[in-house]
Amino acid sequence: MSATHAPPPEVAADALAGRVVVVTGAHGGLGAEAAKACARAGATVVLLGRRVPKLNRVYDALKTLGPEPAIYPMDLAGADPADFAELAARVAGELGGLHGLLHCAAEFTGLAPLATVDPEAFVRCLHVNLSAPWLLTQACLPHLEKESDSAVVFVTDDPARVGGAYWGAYGLAKQALAALVRQLSAETDTGSVRVSGLEPGPMRTDLRARAYADEARLRVPAPAAYAPACVHLLSPAGAAFRGRVWTPRVPA
Ligand SMILES: NC(=O)c1ccc[n+]([C@@H]2O[C@H](COP(=O)([O-])OP(=O)(O)OC[C@H]3O[C@@H](n4cnc5c(N)ncnc54)[C@H](OP(=O)(O)O)[C@@H]3O)[C@@H](O)[C@H]2O)c1
Repeated sequence: MSATHAPPPEVAADALAGRVVVVTGAHGGLGAEAAKACARAGATVVLLGRRVPKLNRVYDALKTLGPEPAIYPMDLAGADPADFAELAARVAGELGGLHGLLHCAAEFTGLAPLATVDPEAFVRCLHVNLSAPWLLTQACLPHLEKESDSAVVFVTDDPARVGGAYWGAYGLAKQALAALVRQLSAETDTGSVRVSGLEPGPMRTDLRARAYADEARLRVPAPAAYAPACVHLLSPAGAAFRGRVWTPRVPA
């Protein structure tokens, strides 16, 4: 099995000890599980999401697992560079640094022919899935660069599938994120910031259900199966995936 498809390794109990990690989409399927795994690995997790009651539930779960987390309510659809700069400065200033950024948030409203997609919805979807993660990363880079080891992880999707018909702006953005991993990594390859991608397989989440409403949900792996891979990429052990998109295999 090549390293690209290797299963997620065991995560060391202290893999992220002393680190501050921002997780977007933190009340989503993968985001919540990744946030819990990061807390268990010792990270102070900043939970970014747009629904405060749901963020509070994840916050309560994390409090029992690791360092006191923080909540940062934000709707990426309306966020601009000034909002991202404020977030980055507040996280680094109030929590003593910034070591990781895990982009789990994604908007996908369902399969539809491109010709029928409302223009505003198309642009919003591209922003939430591509320009917002980039602009947030850009704002965080000066803080990430201050650390001796830090990581940015973009969550992508299978290009063979989402590059096909009806995946619209979501599919275009996910393919562009994979290109962003290569491009940004090539520009930062001698620095302390590691850039990589995680391409999970199918996961039993709300997003998946919007494309495959009729599938037998229990046959699809739970998002927790990919949480160790998120921790691995955020930790120094993730250096092997610098500039690459990891597609770990997990059992159903
Ligand atoms: N599920 C799969 O089979 C699969 C496969 C390959 C890749 N992925 C990727 O895995 C990642 C996690 O997805 P998931 O399956 O866990 O989906 P999910 O459960 O739907 O989580 C997505 C999260 O993104 C949030 N979000 C959407 N629009 C937002 C906005 N404008 N501002 C802030 N947050 C916003 C959602 O919040 P709301 O609840 O408020 O909408 C939700 O918390 C995504 O990047 C996805 O593309 C998923």
